[in-house]
Amino acid sequence: MATKRNAEPYSTVAAHFCKENGQTYFLLKRLKAHDKFIYEQSLRSAYYSLLLARGLGLSGKEQEVVYRSALLADIGKLQTSLGADDAQEPRLSILHHPVYSAELLRPMSEQGLVDGDGILHHHENLDGTGYPFGAIWEDISLTARILRVADSFAAMTSVDRKTGSVAGVEEALNELYRWSDVLYDSDLVMLLCYCFDNLLPNKMKDKGGTDAAGETGVVRKITP
Ligand SMILES: [Fe+2]
Repeated sequence: MATKRNAEPYSTVAAHFCKENGQTYFLLKRLKAHDKFIYEQSLRSAYYSLLLARGLGLSGKEQEVVYRSALLADIGKLQTSLGADDAQEPRLSILHHPVYSAELLRPMSEQGLVDGDGILHHHENLDGTGYPFGAIWEDISLTARILRVADSFAAMTSVDRKTGSVAGVEEALNELYRWSDVLYDSDLVMLLCYCFDNLLPNKMKDKGGTDAAGETGVVRKITP
């Protein structure tokens, strides 16, 4: 029951954005038919991206673009199963899915519905160890950095379909913090911590409260 209840906000927000844009609905439906796990991960990633976009004070239009970009960032994975007979091919293709996604979504990007550059770089790390280009800090846009943090958090707090393991919210936030300014934008990591402190006041505030510097409990509790 808890899993179903927790999934509701992700689906509700996605349904709203699909109602606003038929292309988004069509692509998301294709993604769901292709791989329900990736579909659900996309809903969660987009939800956290929206939290960050709101927390940053982006305009309503900018929030929509960030949300839709996160929702469809993995649409290129539809391509990765094509012609993948060679055992090496799927892995190579997965590393290129941001490029496939950006290509598939170019018409929507040209209409201003998604951020094509953000989608292209949504797996880049600040230290240049990401993919597909190994871009570094100054070459990674705000949208891409939002998607990177949100997608990682969504992945950490989802059930791993290979091992069945799942990280708790606090554990995942600690992990993001540990890699701040190496893989992830530290300001966005701190903002996500703050969002969760507000969203889950009982769970988080019981463990910390707010200190004199104004840092929330969960942030204060985290140590590098
Ligand atoms: Fe991705």
